[in-house]
Amino acid sequence: TTLELSISQLEKGGYPHFMLKEIFEQPSTLKDCIRGRVAEKGRRIIISGVMDNAEKFLNAKRVVIVACGTSWHAGLLGKYLIQDMCRIPVEVEYASEFRYSNPVLDERDIVIAISQSGETADTLAAINIAKSMGAFVYGISNVVGSSIPRETDSGTYIHVGPEIGVASTKAFTGQVMVLTLLAAAIAQLKGTKSPEEIEEIGKTVNKIPSYVEKVLKLNDKIERLSLIYTYARNFLYLGRGYSYPVALEGALKLKEISYIHAEGYPAAEMKHGPIALIDAEMPSVIIAPNDHLYEKIVNNVQQVKARGGSIIAIVTEGDTVIRNIADHVLEVPEVPECLSPIITSIPLQLLSYYIAINKGKDVDMPRNLAKSVTVE
Ligand code: G6P
Repeated sequence: TTLELSISQLEKGGYPHFMLKEIFEQPSTLKDCIRGRVAEKGRRIIISGVMDNAEKFLNAKRVVIVACGTSWHAGLLGKYLIQDMCRIPVEVEYASEFRYSNPVLDERDIVIAISQSGETADTLAAINIAKSMGAFVYGISNVVGSSIPRETDSGTYIHVGPEIGVASTKAFTGQVMVLTLLAAAIAQLKGTKSPEEIEEIGKTVNKIPSYVEKVLKLNDKIERLSLIYTYARNFLYLGRGYSYPVALEGALKLKEISYIHAEGYPAAEMKHGPIALIDAEMPSVIIAPNDHLYEKIVNNVQQVKARGGSIIAIVTEGDTVIRNIADHVLEVPEVPECLSPIITSIPLQLLSYYIAINKGKDVDMPRNLAKSVTVE
């Protein structure tokens, strides 16, 4: 017998699609992303772009993050991370809006541009405006030598390897990891976090690849669960605090590849509109890890249940309260809340993947979408 393997099968490393391969690569891509950036057993965070530009970061009066798509969701997490750890005000802008918004910037602003491909036209244009106004521009990108790293003053690569699937997965977790390390590095420099707090972050960062490994064991359960929800017409994704950007990203993943309408919403804002949509036909995915907003989100879970909505909840291992209310729970390991998005976003990647597969959609090349948008 002859062994027949096409190039594309080989490239997918035994997985049926690039997207699934890239989801499962995350323990190793995150290891690559972290490598050399956490030293002294977690006590020191090393981001050379921060150390080389210490004055800029120490004197920054504001950070403005610009990005598009999934990278914008990572950017929104960057806001929570940098404000929390470094006490610097942060704004997050869609690059396409920023470039035409007559922005107000000066030398004491740091603009962080996030782009997997490093080639997104709107993000590049935003960088050029920021530079012309004297801001210090920092890039976070995956593709070495691409336009955005070349155009920026400094930056950090996420080092997750080529991402082929149009729906971004491993690049998102790499971006969030870099933003976490960046925030921790600035906090270490400014002294806005104690050495003990930095060490807790550093030590947990080192364990993230093994936690992600554990989360991926939910694969079979999520595959079975996906069958129940394949024919839903609409989905709501809810989260608060660090889980709010995760909700937006979870909804985007589902829209992109399964073509199901999904909305991500801050869970408490639901009562100002989306709650009117909830009925037995409208499932909600609620991201509810054990963090300082847990009690608050329990209320939101009850509100959805009271209106007959079906609930898939992402919770911390050992959760008992939400388990009793939600229809399905997916348990993830407990981590400090600033690191929870990397963990909680992974079940959502798998859920959208399997729903799209059940519907027979082309997950790697969804209709109307491009991997990198180099035109306006
Ligand atoms: C396209 C892709 C998205 C991506 C966005 C931004 O829309 O389909 O997956 O998030 O562009 O791309 P970038 O390369 O700048 O991160």
